[in-house]
Amino acid sequence: MTKNNFTLTLIKPYAVEHGYVGHILARINEAGFRISAMKYTQLSREQAEAFYEVHRNEGFFGRLIEFMTKGPLVVALLEKENAVGSYRRLIGATDPDKAEDGTLRKLFGASVELNAVHGSDSDENARREAAFFFSRLEIF
Ligand code: CMP
Repeated sequence: MTKNNFTLTLIKPYAVEHGYVGHILARINEAGFRISAMKYTQLSREQAEAFYEVHRNEGFFGRLIEFMTKGPLVVALLEKENAVGSYRRLIGATDPDKAEDGTLRKLFGASVELNAVHGSDSDENARREAAFFFSRLEIF
């Protein structure tokens, strides 16, 4: 993997609970991403707070942590040229009401809080988030 060819996604507990994992992974593959690491896990409160540290002062932080720790989620590293931007186009705006038709958040999310997936917002955060979830031995 090089500097700008990977991003990290979370298929959130809401989407797992509703049976969307297979549909979302199929669309990720169809969009030309290669999955270079993947796991099914559940975040502790401490882990979710650390992952979303930048949002700690937002009014929605408590609900976000509650929502992200509710059940298992899927974490994956996705490889493609310009992966961060390309994946953000595939997932669409955070708020499903504002996301374009055909995007993952439009198709599978219910609201800005109950959204289906996360995608890194910069190459730097993709590196930070990859290191948060995966060791070198888990990336292929
Ligand atoms: P995500 O890409 O995982 O990054 C931060 C998350 O905070 C975001 O998706 C949303 O699920 C969640 N969130 C909850 N409320 C808001 C809000 N008002 N604006 C932006 N993000 C929000």
